Amino acid sequence: MLDILKIIVGPASASLGKRICSLLGLERIDVYTKEFPDGEVYIRLLGDVKGVDALIIQSLSPPQDRNLLILLQLIAAFKANGGENASVVIPYMAYARQDRIFLPGENASAHLVAKMIEAAGADRVALVEPHSEHAVQGFKNRIIIDVTRSFAKYYLENGFKEAYVVAPDKNAAMRARRLAEMINGGFGWVEKIRDKETGGISSSEGELNPRSRKTILIDDIISTGGTIIEAMRLLKMKGASFISVACVHGLFVENAYNKIKNEGASSILSSDTVESQYSNISVAEDIVRALREKNWL
Ligand code: R5P
Repeated sequence: MLDILKIIVGPASASLGKRICSLLGLERIDVYTKEFPDGEVYIRLLGDVKGVDALIIQSLSPPQDRNLLILLQLIAAFKANGGENASVVIPYMAYARQDRIFLPGENASAHLVAKMIEAAGADRVALVEPHSEHAVQGFKNRIIIDVTRSFAKYYLENGFKEAYVVAPDKNAAMRARRLAEMINGGFGWVEKIRDKETGGISSSEGELNPRSRKTILIDDIISTGGTIIEAMRLLKMKGASFISVACVHGLFVENAYNKIKNEGASSILSSDTVESQYSNISVAEDIVRALREKNWL
């Protein structure tokens, strides 16, 4: 990699990118975007990238397809204008839940998205807590960034030391365990069963013992809120009285935020990997730390 590193921040990661820029103090290449009357998206880099390396930051948050097209164009424009190495940071990796063929006739969309990003010219890719390891195997040169520390910091500063941390799904257990260790708390998980045809969810007790402790329920993604609400109901039945809900990537579709609030969540945390009115935690420091540790900077 070269000595000159610049940052290109896509519109889906405007505030996270700004934070990362100010933590790193690197020169930023501004991006102009517009939409054509027929709905197609146009991007233009407003700075010289010839002979430099770039950190390109763009989330694939909703609208996913639009933001993917913008990311592809940012990478391609960087390369087309003489840029050298493109290091891409994807705060939220869309299509990651379709990480394999579950039913005949399907396609593993996560792998297709990876191919497209590499075909556009990405030399290496950093992904913040993608849905699964398997989802990002399509990227040949990749790192995964764990942002649990940002959540632990919030919870330690807000009276949740030694709280009970629960994963609403066994697949999310490692994250919950990491958080529990960081705040010196207990750890448990709920067993989630999802119907592959209908997408419907049911939950049963996995390993749970909340008693009346403060409880944190943490998942990677909240989309419709169905998973979290099922787990909250189970937790309340088991005696949890004070439940804070957290997710790395808050999509909050179908009025999910209000549904979770109405279910009795004491607070709802979601990070700026998906920027919205609901994102209230920044993972910029975790990203910068990880990039330094992996010698990307
Ligand atoms: C799926 O396995 C993920 O980890 C999340 O649990 C899921 O995407 C959440 O979706 P929803 O909020 O619609 O239940």
